[in-house]
Amino acid sequence: MKNPDILILAAGKGTRMKSKKAKVLHHAGGAPLVSHVLRAALSVSGKVLIVVGHQADEVKRLFSGVTFIDQKEQLGTGHAVMCARETLRDFAGELLVLPGDVPLIRTETIQEFLRFHREGNYDASVLTAEIANPFGYGRIVRGKDNAVDRIVEHRDASPEILKLNEINTSIYVFNTPLLFDALNRLRNDNAQSEYYLTDVIGILTGNQKKVGAWKTNQAEEILGINTRRELAYTDQVLRRRKNEELMSDGVTIMDPSSTFIDADVKIGADTVIYPSVQIYGSSEIGEDCTIHSFTRISNSRVGNQSTLLEGCIVEDSVIGDDVTIGPYARLRPGAKLEDAVRVGNFVEIKKSTLGAGTKAMHLAYIGDATIGKKVNVGAGVITVNYDGTNKFPTTIEDDAFIGSDSQLIAPIHVGKGGFVAAGSTITEDVPAESLAIGRGRQVNKENRAPHRKKNVPL
Ligand code: UD1
Ligand code: CA
Repeated sequence: MKNPDILILAAGKGTRMKSKKAKVLHHAGGAPLVSHVLRAALSVSGKVLIVVGHQADEVKRLFSGVTFIDQKEQLGTGHAVMCARETLRDFAGELLVLPGDVPLIRTETIQEFLRFHREGNYDASVLTAEIANPFGYGRIVRGKDNAVDRIVEHRDASPEILKLNEINTSIYVFNTPLLFDALNRLRNDNAQSEYYLTDVIGILTGNQKKVGAWKTNQAEEILGINTRRELAYTDQVLRRRKNEELMSDGVTIMDPSSTFIDADVKIGADTVIYPSVQIYGSSEIGEDCTIHSFTRISNSRVGNQSTLLEGCIVEDSVIGDDVTIGPYARLRPGAKLEDAVRVGNFVEIKKSTLGAGTKAMHLAYIGDATIGKKVNVGAGVITVNYDGTNKFPTTIEDDAFIGSDSQLIAPIHVGKGGFVAAGSTITEDVPAESLAIGRGRQVNKENRAPHRKKNVPL
Protein backbone atom coordinates (compact mmCIF):
# COMPACT_ATOMS: atom_id res chain seq x y z
CA MET A 1 0.00 0.00 0.00
CA LYS A 2 1.08 3.56 -0.71
CA ASN A 3 2.74 5.50 2.10
CA PRO A 4 0.73 8.37 3.54
CA ASP A 5 1.74 12.01 3.34
CA ILE A 6 2.64 13.27 6.79
CA LEU A 7 2.06 16.73 8.21
CA ILE A 8 3.78 17.68 11.48
CA LEU A 9 2.34 20.70 13.31
CA ALA A 10 5.19 22.66 14.84
CA ALA A 11 4.28 26.33 14.54
CA GLY A 12 2.99 27.00 18.05
CA LYS A 13 4.84 29.03 20.66
CA GLY A 14 4.09 26.77 23.61
CA THR A 15 2.97 29.47 26.02
CA ARG A 16 2.85 27.04 28.93
CA MET A 17 6.63 26.44 28.66
CA LYS A 18 7.15 30.08 29.75
CA SER A 19 10.10 30.28 27.40
CA LYS A 20 11.66 32.58 24.84
CA LYS A 21 12.20 29.48 22.74
CA ALA A 22 9.52 27.75 20.64
CA LYS A 23 8.29 24.60 22.34
CA VAL A 24 9.34 22.15 19.64
CA LEU A 25 12.93 23.41 19.93
CA HIS A 26 13.24 22.39 23.57
CA HIS A 27 15.45 19.35 24.06
CA ALA A 28 14.63 15.94 25.48
CA GLY A 29 16.77 12.83 25.07
CA GLY A 30 19.47 15.08 23.64
CA ALA A 31 17.50 16.42 20.67
CA PRO A 32 14.75 18.96 19.94
CA LEU A 33 11.23 17.62 20.58
CA VAL A 34 10.22 17.91 16.93
CA SER A 35 13.19 15.84 15.78
CA HIS A 36 11.88 12.81 17.66
CA VAL A 37 8.51 13.18 15.94
CA LEU A 38 10.23 13.59 12.58
CA ARG A 39 12.32 10.48 13.17
CA ALA A 40 9.15 8.41 13.79
CA ALA A 41 7.43 10.04 10.79
CA LEU A 42 10.30 9.32 8.40
CA SER A 43 10.27 5.66 9.27
CA VAL A 44 6.63 5.56 8.13
CA SER A 45 6.89 7.68 4.97
CA GLY A 46 9.39 9.71 3.01
CA LYS A 47 6.85 12.47 2.29
CA VAL A 48 6.93 14.67 5.35
CA LEU A 49 5.84 18.31 5.64
CA ILE A 50 6.37 20.44 8.74
CA VAL A 51 4.24 23.48 9.56
CA VAL A 52 6.46 26.15 11.10
CA GLY A 53 5.69 29.57 12.52
CA HIS A 54 7.15 30.56 15.84
CA GLN A 55 10.95 30.70 15.33
CA ALA A 56 10.45 29.15 11.91
CA ASP A 57 14.02 29.83 10.81
CA GLU A 58 15.49 27.95 13.75
CA VAL A 59 13.24 24.95 13.10
CA LYS A 60 14.03 25.00 9.36
CA ARG A 61 17.73 25.04 10.10
CA LEU A 62 17.45 21.72 11.97
CA PHE A 63 16.47 19.54 9.03
CA SER A 64 17.03 19.09 5.36
CA GLY A 65 15.02 16.95 2.97
CA VAL A 66 11.60 17.88 4.35
CA THR A 67 9.10 20.44 3.05
CA PHE A 68 8.28 23.37 5.32
CA ILE A 69 4.92 25.14 5.35
CA ASP A 70 4.79 28.63 6.84
CA GLN A 71 2.01 29.50 9.26
CA LYS A 72 2.71 33.18 9.79
CA GLU A 73 0.08 33.70 12.47
CA GLN A 74 -0.78 30.83 14.77
CA LEU A 75 -4.55 30.76 14.68
CA GLY A 76 -4.96 27.19 15.83
CA THR A 77 -4.27 23.59 14.81
CA GLY A 78 -6.98 23.65 12.11
CA HIS A 79 -5.52 26.83 10.65
CA ALA A 80 -2.07 25.20 10.68
CA VAL A 81 -3.38 22.41 8.43
CA MET A 82 -5.15 24.94 6.17
CA CYS A 83 -1.78 26.54 5.50
CA ALA A 84 -0.75 23.32 3.72
CA ARG A 85 -3.70 23.49 1.32
CA GLU A 86 -1.73 24.79 -1.67
CA THR A 87 1.04 22.24 -1.23
CA LEU A 88 -1.37 19.35 -0.78
CA ARG A 89 -3.84 20.46 -3.46
CA ASP A 90 -3.16 17.61 -5.86
CA PHE A 91 -2.71 14.95 -3.20
CA ALA A 92 -5.47 12.40 -3.38
CA GLY A 93 -4.33 9.94 -0.74
CA GLU A 94 -4.10 9.90 3.02
CA LEU A 95 -2.72 12.58 5.28
CA LEU A 96 -1.29 11.54 8.64
CA VAL A 97 -1.21 14.49 11.03
CA LEU A 98 1.22 14.48 13.95
CA PRO A 99 1.66 17.24 16.52
CA GLY A 100 5.28 18.33 16.94
CA ASP A 101 5.10 17.98 20.72
CA VAL A 102 4.65 14.20 21.12
CA PRO A 103 8.29 13.05 21.11
CA LEU A 104 7.59 9.64 22.64
CA ILE A 105 5.45 8.34 19.79
CA ARG A 106 6.88 5.21 18.21
CA THR A 107 6.82 4.02 14.63
CA GLU A 108 5.12 0.74 15.60
CA THR A 109 2.21 2.61 17.15
CA ILE A 110 1.75 4.81 14.09
CA GLN A 111 1.84 1.72 11.85
CA GLU A 112 -0.80 -0.06 13.90
CA PHE A 113 -2.98 3.03 13.80
CA LEU A 114 -2.65 3.25 10.01
CA ARG A 115 -3.57 -0.40 9.69
CA PHE A 116 -6.71 0.21 11.78
CA HIS A 117 -7.67 3.15 9.54
CA ARG A 118 -7.21 1.20 6.34
CA GLU A 119 -8.85 -2.02 7.46
CA GLY A 120 -11.88 -0.10 8.71
CA ASN A 121 -12.14 1.89 5.45
CA TYR A 122 -12.52 5.12 7.40
CA ASP A 123 -12.63 8.62 5.95
CA ALA A 124 -10.78 9.82 9.02
CA SER A 125 -9.37 8.22 12.16
CA VAL A 126 -8.18 9.63 15.42
CA LEU A 127 -5.72 8.01 17.79
CA THR A 128 -7.04 8.12 21.34
CA ALA A 129 -5.99 6.99 24.80
CA GLU A 130 -7.68 6.50 28.10
CA ILE A 131 -5.75 8.28 30.82
CA ALA A 132 -6.24 8.75 34.56
CA ASN A 133 -5.78 12.52 34.45
CA PRO A 134 -7.20 13.89 31.20
CA PHE A 135 -6.87 17.52 32.33
CA GLY A 136 -6.18 19.86 29.42
CA TYR A 137 -6.78 17.34 26.66
CA GLY A 138 -9.59 17.32 24.11
CA ARG A 139 -12.18 14.65 24.99
CA ILE A 140 -13.56 12.03 22.62
CA VAL A 141 -17.34 12.08 22.65
CA ARG A 142 -18.90 8.86 21.42
CA GLY A 143 -22.52 8.56 20.36
CA LYS A 144 -24.74 5.82 19.08
CA ASP A 145 -23.11 2.34 18.86
CA ASN A 146 -20.13 3.82 20.61
CA ALA A 147 -19.05 5.48 17.35
CA VAL A 148 -17.06 8.73 17.55
CA ASP A 149 -19.25 11.78 17.33
CA ARG A 150 -16.93 14.72 17.98
CA ILE A 151 -14.02 16.06 19.99
CA VAL A 152 -14.53 18.73 22.63
CA GLU A 153 -11.63 20.81 23.91
CA HIS A 154 -11.08 20.91 27.67
CA ARG A 155 -11.74 24.64 27.81
CA ASP A 156 -15.02 24.30 25.92
CA ALA A 157 -16.25 21.20 27.75
CA SER A 158 -19.29 20.90 30.02
CA PRO A 159 -18.86 19.23 33.45
CA GLU A 160 -20.36 16.05 31.94
CA ILE A 161 -17.81 15.94 29.12
CA LEU A 162 -14.94 16.75 31.49
CA LYS A 163 -15.69 13.43 33.20
CA LEU A 164 -14.79 11.51 30.04
CA ASN A 165 -11.25 10.25 30.12
CA GLU A 166 -10.74 9.10 26.56
CA ILE A 167 -8.59 11.85 25.08
CA ASN A 168 -7.54 13.10 21.67
CA THR A 169 -3.82 12.53 21.09
CA SER A 170 -3.82 14.94 18.11
CA ILE A 171 -2.68 12.12 15.87
CA TYR A 172 -5.02 11.60 12.93
CA VAL A 173 -5.25 10.11 9.45
CA PHE A 174 -7.52 11.79 6.95
CA ASN A 175 -8.67 11.27 3.43
CA THR A 176 -6.91 14.38 2.14
CA PRO A 177 -9.63 15.92 -0.10
CA LEU A 178 -12.32 15.32 2.53
CA LEU A 179 -10.12 16.97 5.15
CA PHE A 180 -9.75 20.16 3.11
CA ASP A 181 -13.50 20.22 2.38
CA ALA A 182 -14.20 20.08 6.09
CA LEU A 183 -11.56 22.72 6.87
CA ASN A 184 -13.51 25.16 4.66
CA ARG A 185 -16.30 25.01 7.19
CA LEU A 186 -14.22 25.52 10.31
CA ARG A 187 -15.13 28.41 12.61
CA ASN A 188 -13.33 29.93 15.56
CA ASP A 189 -16.25 30.59 17.90
CA ASN A 190 -14.73 28.82 20.88
CA ALA A 191 -13.00 29.61 24.19
CA GLN A 192 -9.66 30.32 22.50
CA SER A 193 -11.00 31.95 19.29
CA GLU A 194 -8.89 29.47 17.35
CA TYR A 195 -9.53 27.26 14.35
CA TYR A 196 -9.46 23.82 15.96
CA LEU A 197 -8.47 20.80 13.89
CA THR A 198 -10.51 18.78 16.39
CA ASP A 199 -13.73 20.31 14.99
CA VAL A 200 -13.10 18.58 11.66
CA ILE A 201 -14.11 15.30 13.29
CA GLY A 202 -17.59 16.64 14.17
CA ILE A 203 -17.95 18.18 10.70
CA LEU A 204 -17.15 14.83 9.06
CA THR A 205 -19.49 12.77 11.26
CA GLY A 206 -22.20 15.42 10.67
CA ASN A 207 -21.75 14.70 6.98
CA GLN A 208 -22.21 10.98 7.53
CA LYS A 209 -18.54 10.32 6.91
CA LYS A 210 -17.04 7.29 8.58
CA VAL A 211 -14.71 8.27 11.46
CA GLY A 212 -12.74 5.71 13.45
CA ALA A 213 -11.10 6.02 16.83
CA TRP A 214 -8.26 3.71 17.73
CA LYS A 215 -7.39 3.54 21.38
CA THR A 216 -3.78 2.82 22.20
CA ASN A 217 -2.82 1.27 25.52
CA GLN A 218 0.61 2.93 25.30
CA ALA A 219 -0.56 6.07 27.12
CA GLU A 220 3.02 7.12 27.82
CA GLU A 221 3.79 7.46 24.11
CA ILE A 222 1.15 10.03 23.31
CA LEU A 223 2.06 12.53 26.02
CA GLY A 224 1.93 16.00 24.49
CA ILE A 225 4.61 18.19 26.06
CA ASN A 226 3.15 21.47 27.24
CA THR A 227 5.15 22.22 30.41
CA ARG A 228 8.69 21.94 31.75
CA ARG A 229 7.57 19.15 34.08
CA GLU A 230 6.39 17.11 31.11
CA LEU A 231 9.65 17.93 29.34
CA ALA A 232 11.69 16.50 32.23
CA TYR A 233 9.52 13.41 32.32
CA THR A 234 9.98 12.90 28.56
CA ASP A 235 13.70 13.27 28.88
CA GLN A 236 13.69 10.51 31.49
CA VAL A 237 11.63 8.21 29.27
CA LEU A 238 13.84 8.79 26.23
CA ARG A 239 16.98 8.14 28.28
CA ARG A 240 15.49 5.01 29.77
CA ARG A 241 14.64 3.74 26.26
CA LYS A 242 18.17 4.44 25.05
CA ASN A 243 19.76 2.71 28.05
CA GLU A 244 17.51 -0.31 27.61
CA GLU A 245 18.37 -0.55 23.92
CA LEU A 246 22.11 -0.43 24.73
CA MET A 247 21.77 -3.03 27.49
CA SER A 248 19.93 -5.34 25.07
CA ASP A 249 22.90 -4.94 22.74
CA GLY A 250 25.38 -6.04 25.42
CA VAL A 251 26.45 -2.84 27.15
CA THR A 252 26.64 -2.89 30.98
CA ILE A 253 25.09 0.20 32.53
CA MET A 254 25.60 0.00 36.28
CA ASP A 255 23.09 2.68 37.23
CA PRO A 256 20.72 3.54 34.38
CA SER A 257 18.98 6.19 36.46
CA SER A 258 22.10 8.37 36.61
CA THR A 259 23.38 7.62 33.10
CA PHE A 260 22.66 10.15 30.33
CA ILE A 261 23.21 8.83 26.81
CA ASP A 262 21.87 10.70 23.78
CA ALA A 263 19.75 8.94 21.17
CA ASP A 264 22.39 8.85 18.41
CA VAL A 265 25.26 7.54 20.55
CA LYS A 266 26.68 4.13 19.61
CA ILE A 267 28.38 1.83 22.13
CA GLY A 268 29.94 -1.58 21.51
CA ALA A 269 29.26 -4.80 23.41
CA ASP A 270 30.93 -5.49 26.76
CA THR A 271 31.65 -1.87 27.43
CA VAL A 272 30.95 -1.02 31.07
CA ILE A 273 29.48 2.31 32.09
CA TYR A 274 29.80 3.31 35.74
CA PRO A 275 27.21 5.50 37.49
CA SER A 276 26.83 9.19 36.61
CA VAL A 277 28.33 9.12 33.13
CA GLN A 278 27.15 11.42 30.32
CA ILE A 279 27.67 10.56 26.65
CA TYR A 280 26.28 13.09 24.21
CA GLY A 281 25.78 13.92 20.55
CA SER A 282 27.25 11.71 17.88
CA SER A 283 29.71 9.91 20.17
CA GLU A 284 30.77 6.37 19.33
CA ILE A 285 32.40 4.09 21.89
CA GLY A 286 33.89 0.74 20.90
CA GLU A 287 33.78 -2.66 22.59
CA ASP A 288 35.28 -3.64 25.96
CA CYS A 289 35.76 -0.08 27.14
CA THR A 290 35.26 1.08 30.70
CA ILE A 291 33.87 4.53 31.37
CA HIS A 292 34.11 5.53 35.02
CA SER A 293 31.91 7.89 36.98
CA PHE A 294 31.53 11.63 36.34
CA THR A 295 33.00 11.42 32.88
CA ARG A 296 31.36 13.42 30.11
CA ILE A 297 31.96 12.59 26.45
CA SER A 298 30.53 14.71 23.61
CA ASN A 299 30.73 14.13 19.86
CA SER A 300 33.81 11.96 20.24
CA ARG A 301 35.03 8.55 19.11
CA VAL A 302 36.62 5.99 21.41
CA GLY A 303 38.12 2.75 20.07
CA ASN A 304 38.09 -0.67 21.74
CA GLN A 305 39.48 -1.71 25.17
CA SER A 306 40.01 1.85 26.28
CA THR A 307 39.46 3.12 29.81
CA LEU A 308 38.31 6.55 30.83
CA LEU A 309 38.83 6.96 34.56
CA GLU A 310 36.80 9.24 36.81
CA GLY A 311 36.00 12.83 35.97
CA CYS A 312 37.23 13.12 32.36
CA ILE A 313 35.77 15.65 29.95
CA VAL A 314 36.12 14.69 26.29
CA GLU A 315 34.78 16.94 23.52
CA ASP A 316 35.07 16.56 19.72
CA SER A 317 38.03 14.25 20.14
CA VAL A 318 39.21 10.88 18.90
CA ILE A 319 40.63 8.18 21.16
CA GLY A 320 42.13 4.95 19.78
CA ASP A 321 42.28 1.40 21.15
CA ASP A 322 43.84 0.45 24.52
CA VAL A 323 44.05 4.05 25.66
CA THR A 324 43.75 5.06 29.31
CA ILE A 325 42.90 8.59 30.32
CA GLY A 326 42.23 10.24 33.64
CA PRO A 327 41.24 10.55 36.33
CA TYR A 328 40.43 14.21 35.65
CA ALA A 329 41.79 14.57 32.15
CA ARG A 330 40.36 17.12 29.76
CA LEU A 331 40.33 16.55 26.02
CA ARG A 332 39.20 19.69 24.24
CA PRO A 333 38.15 19.82 20.58
CA GLY A 334 40.65 18.35 18.16
CA ALA A 335 42.46 16.06 20.58
CA LYS A 336 43.53 12.82 18.93
CA LEU A 337 45.04 10.01 20.99
CA GLU A 338 46.34 7.09 18.95
CA ASP A 339 46.41 3.52 20.24
CA ALA A 340 47.89 2.72 23.67
CA VAL A 341 48.30 6.35 24.69
CA ARG A 342 48.27 7.09 28.44
CA VAL A 343 47.01 10.42 29.69
CA GLY A 344 46.94 10.91 33.43
CA ASN A 345 45.43 13.28 35.94
CA PHE A 346 45.04 16.99 35.34
CA VAL A 347 46.27 16.85 31.78
CA GLU A 348 44.61 19.19 29.27
CA ILE A 349 44.93 18.51 25.55
CA LYS A 350 43.62 20.75 22.79
CA LYS A 351 43.88 20.36 19.00
CA SER A 352 46.82 17.98 19.32
CA THR A 353 47.78 14.49 18.26
CA LEU A 354 49.58 12.04 20.55
CA GLY A 355 51.09 9.14 18.62
CA ALA A 356 50.78 5.50 19.63
CA GLY A 357 52.26 4.60 22.98
CA THR A 358 52.92 8.19 24.04
CA LYS A 359 52.44 9.10 27.70
CA ALA A 360 51.54 12.33 29.45
CA MET A 361 50.79 11.17 32.95
CA HIS A 362 50.60 14.25 35.14
CA LEU A 363 49.56 17.92 35.08
CA ALA A 364 50.42 18.92 31.51
CA TYR A 365 49.02 21.36 28.95
CA ILE A 366 49.36 20.21 25.36
CA GLY A 367 47.89 22.57 22.75
CA ASP A 368 48.40 22.85 18.97
CA ALA A 369 50.97 20.05 19.18
CA THR A 370 51.82 17.09 17.00
CA ILE A 371 53.54 14.47 19.08
CA GLY A 372 54.97 11.27 17.64
CA LYS A 373 55.02 7.74 18.97
CA LYS A 374 56.40 6.61 22.34
CA VAL A 375 57.12 10.10 23.55
CA ASN A 376 57.27 10.74 27.28
CA VAL A 377 55.79 14.04 28.33
CA GLY A 378 56.86 14.66 31.92
CA ALA A 379 54.85 16.08 34.80
CA GLY A 380 53.91 19.72 34.46
CA VAL A 381 55.07 20.17 30.85
CA ILE A 382 53.52 23.09 29.01
CA THR A 383 53.42 23.77 25.29
CA VAL A 384 53.46 27.56 25.32
CA ASN A 385 51.34 28.02 22.23
CA TYR A 386 49.91 31.51 22.62
CA ASP A 387 51.60 34.90 22.75
CA GLY A 388 48.41 36.78 23.44
CA THR A 389 47.73 37.34 19.73
CA ASN A 390 48.58 34.22 17.77
CA LYS A 391 48.74 30.48 18.33
CA PHE A 392 51.87 28.54 17.35
CA PRO A 393 52.49 24.83 16.77
CA THR A 394 54.77 22.42 18.61
CA THR A 395 56.09 19.24 17.01
CA ILE A 396 57.77 16.47 18.90
CA GLU A 397 59.12 13.49 16.97
CA ASP A 398 59.00 9.81 18.00
CA ASP A 399 60.82 8.57 21.13
CA ALA A 400 61.52 12.05 22.49
CA PHE A 401 61.58 12.62 26.23
CA ILE A 402 60.35 15.92 27.62
CA GLY A 403 61.55 16.30 31.22
CA SER A 404 59.15 17.40 33.92
CA ASP A 405 58.22 21.02 34.38
CA SER A 406 59.55 22.11 31.00
CA GLN A 407 58.02 24.76 28.83
CA LEU A 408 58.26 24.47 25.07
CA ILE A 409 57.91 27.99 23.64
CA ALA A 410 56.17 27.50 20.28
CA PRO A 411 56.76 27.42 17.39
CA ILE A 412 59.21 24.72 18.33
CA HIS A 413 60.39 21.36 17.07
CA VAL A 414 61.95 18.51 19.05
CA GLY A 415 63.63 15.96 16.79
CA LYS A 416 63.39 12.19 16.99
CA GLY A 417 64.81 10.85 20.26
CA GLY A 418 65.46 14.39 21.53
CA PHE A 419 65.81 14.79 25.28
CA VAL A 420 64.72 17.93 27.10
CA ALA A 421 66.13 18.18 30.61
CA ALA A 422 63.66 18.71 33.42
CA GLY A 423 62.85 22.28 34.27
CA SER A 424 63.93 23.65 30.88
CA THR A 425 62.48 26.59 29.04
CA ILE A 426 63.01 25.59 25.43
CA THR A 427 63.09 28.44 22.93
CA GLU A 428 65.12 26.84 20.15
CA ASP A 429 64.51 23.68 18.13
CA VAL A 430 66.07 20.52 19.56
CA PRO A 431 67.85 18.37 16.93
CA ALA A 432 67.27 14.62 16.81
CA GLU A 433 69.01 12.59 19.53
CA SER A 434 70.20 15.77 21.28
CA LEU A 435 70.00 16.75 24.93
CA ALA A 436 68.65 20.24 25.50
CA ILE A 437 69.04 21.99 28.84
CA GLY A 438 67.53 25.42 29.16
CA ARG A 439 67.66 26.53 32.77
CA GLY A 440 69.80 28.60 35.17
CA ARG A 441 72.76 26.77 36.62
CA GLN A 442 72.55 25.69 40.23
CA VAL A 443 74.85 27.30 42.79
CA ASN A 444 75.45 25.62 46.20
CA LYS A 445 76.64 27.89 49.03
CA GLU A 446 77.95 25.79 51.88
CA ASN A 447 76.68 26.35 55.45
CA ARG A 448 74.58 29.28 54.40
CA ALA A 449 71.21 27.71 55.12
CA PRO A 450 71.13 28.45 58.90
CA HIS A 451 71.36 32.20 58.08
CA ARG A 452 67.75 32.07 57.15
CA LYS A 453 66.69 31.44 60.74
CA LYS A 454 69.12 33.99 62.21
CA ASN A 455 67.69 36.78 60.09
CA VAL A 456 71.10 37.42 58.48
CA PRO A 457 71.06 38.28 54.74
CA LEU A 458 71.52 35.11 52.64
C1 UD1 B 1 -4.25 19.71 21.07
C2 UD1 B 1 -5.69 19.29 20.69
C3 UD1 B 1 -6.28 18.49 21.85
C4 UD1 B 1 -5.41 17.28 22.16
C5 UD1 B 1 -3.96 17.72 22.43
C6 UD1 B 1 -3.07 16.51 22.50
C7 UD1 B 1 -6.61 21.06 19.27
C8 UD1 B 1 -7.47 22.23 19.21
N1 UD1 B 1 -6.47 20.48 20.46
O1 UD1 B 1 -4.33 20.58 22.19
O2 UD1 B 1 -7.57 18.03 21.51
O3 UD1 B 1 -5.93 16.59 23.27
O4 UD1 B 1 -3.48 18.54 21.35
O5 UD1 B 1 -1.77 16.84 22.87
O6 UD1 B 1 -6.07 20.65 18.25
N2 UD1 B 1 0.24 24.26 16.45
C9 UD1 B 1 0.52 24.88 15.25
N3 UD1 B 1 -0.17 26.02 14.92
C10 UD1 B 1 -1.11 26.55 15.73
C11 UD1 B 1 -1.40 25.90 16.95
C12 UD1 B 1 -0.70 24.76 17.29
O7 UD1 B 1 1.38 24.43 14.49
O8 UD1 B 1 -1.69 27.58 15.35
C13 UD1 B 1 1.01 23.04 16.80
C14 UD1 B 1 1.84 23.21 18.06
O9 UD1 B 1 3.14 23.67 17.74
C15 UD1 B 1 1.85 21.80 18.65
C16 UD1 B 1 0.57 21.17 18.13
O10 UD1 B 1 0.12 22.00 17.07
O11 UD1 B 1 2.95 21.06 18.21
C17 UD1 B 1 -0.50 21.09 19.21
O12 UD1 B 1 -0.76 22.39 19.69
P1 UD1 B 1 -1.02 22.68 21.23
O13 UD1 B 1 -1.19 24.13 21.42
O14 UD1 B 1 -0.01 22.00 22.07
O15 UD1 B 1 -2.44 21.96 21.41
P2 UD1 B 1 -3.10 21.45 22.75
O16 UD1 B 1 -3.68 22.58 23.49
O17 UD1 B 1 -2.16 20.58 23.47
CA1 CA C 1 -0.04 19.93 23.16
